[in-house]
Amino acid sequence: MVRKSFTLTIMKTILVTGGAGFIGSHTSLLLLKKGFNLIILDSFLNSNPKVIERISELSGIKNVQKRIELIKGDIRDQKLLERIFDFAKINNNPIDAVIHFAGLKSVSDSLENPFDYWEVNVLGTIKLLQVMEKNNCFTIIFSSSATIYGVPKDLPLKEISDINPVNTYGETKAAIEKIFRDVSKVKSKKWRMITLRYFNPVGAHPTGKMGEDPLIEPNNLFPYISQVAIGRKEKLRIFGNNWPTFDGTCIRDYIHIMDLAESHIASLEFLLKSSSLLLNLNIGTGIGRSVLEIVKTFEKVNNLVIPYSFVERREGDIAVNYADNKKALSFLNWRPIYTLEDMCRDSWKWQKMNPNGYK
Ligand SMILES: NC(=O)c1ccc[n+]([C@@H]2O[C@H](COP(=O)([O-])OP(=O)(O)OC[C@H]3O[C@@H](n4cnc5c(N)ncnc54)[C@H](O)[C@@H]3O)[C@@H](O)[C@H]2O)c1
Repeated sequence: MVRKSFTLTIMKTILVTGGAGFIGSHTSLLLLKKGFNLIILDSFLNSNPKVIERISELSGIKNVQKRIELIKGDIRDQKLLERIFDFAKINNNPIDAVIHFAGLKSVSDSLENPFDYWEVNVLGTIKLLQVMEKNNCFTIIFSSSATIYGVPKDLPLKEISDINPVNTYGETKAAIEKIFRDVSKVKSKKWRMITLRYFNPVGAHPTGKMGEDPLIEPNNLFPYISQVAIGRKEKLRIFGNNWPTFDGTCIRDYIHIMDLAESHIASLEFLLKSSSLLLNLNIGTGIGRSVLEIVKTFEKVNNLVIPYSFVERREGDIAVNYADNKKALSFLNWRPIYTLEDMCRDSWKWQKMNPNGYK
């Protein structure tokens, strides 16, 4: 449960749901370095508690464990959420803001198990918002996804582009954004809300000590390439070579995990100074890269060969998507700085140094 008292009580306290996961862990590290106290709530369904040791080590902060409270639990457990807020308050460290990463994220799994996605993603978020409201905590950053746009009519994708998800996962993210819209209109409450629509987060901490360690079979490109490179998988399957793109493979907007993590810090700093508002922001680099471009860059930067073969297109895939990130650039004190080469180098460094992830 929540520790009796944090050492530095003037610091702000942030509840990070899903803080042990890929994006949550990198963001938690930056939050600590920025001086925030953290309460991390995670079920460890798709992460390993050992990541907290790495976060602590990389922070370089003395007695950092006094500034992180780790709670194993489920976002759907409303009683637990209430206890977390209560204890934080009793101990003079009320939760100032929430960064909500916890959720299920596999497109293919969502088509097989829709109830789980609606329950964890949507119901879990409703419970969180209810408990926040009850505790007068009205500041939240939510992990949304470019998946909500579905098949783009125009590129690059702007925040005002049509929301038209083509799979259950995307539907649940779009539904949560709708809930945010309704909640933010309640005049008697002063909600400050940002939904970050991530494009394709990849890479790892440049030290190679933290990275993506999916316990559920990865269906994202980068973990797959890394697992082929390390020999855990025989070859990369590329879904389709006849897409209407310059080399026939799909084009996506990949963003380095450290750039993505920084966008949360910038969002939090922005919200903590704002009056009530709801902002939806695309978080990408604005540059589209094809699957073959990624494979070639990965091979070149890391001096290795990635065996691959072309297989049938995946159901629900789209040819091209990339972000218009101008709105995020204008609202936040943020811009992506890492290159595609950095993404490929850091992914491989993490995989090479940790062939079995955190295990
Ligand atoms: N990685 C991506 O490509 C991507 C893209 C767009 C949006 N997102 C969203 O960003 C968020 C974080 O993604 P990630 O890549 O870090 O995923 P992740 O699976 O690494 O992290 C999610 C974390 O939430 C935890 N979790 C899952 N269900 C939970 C529950 N019911 N209660 C408490 N904890 C639970 C998992 O154990 C994990 O640690 C997710 O909401 C995801 O949908 C991710």
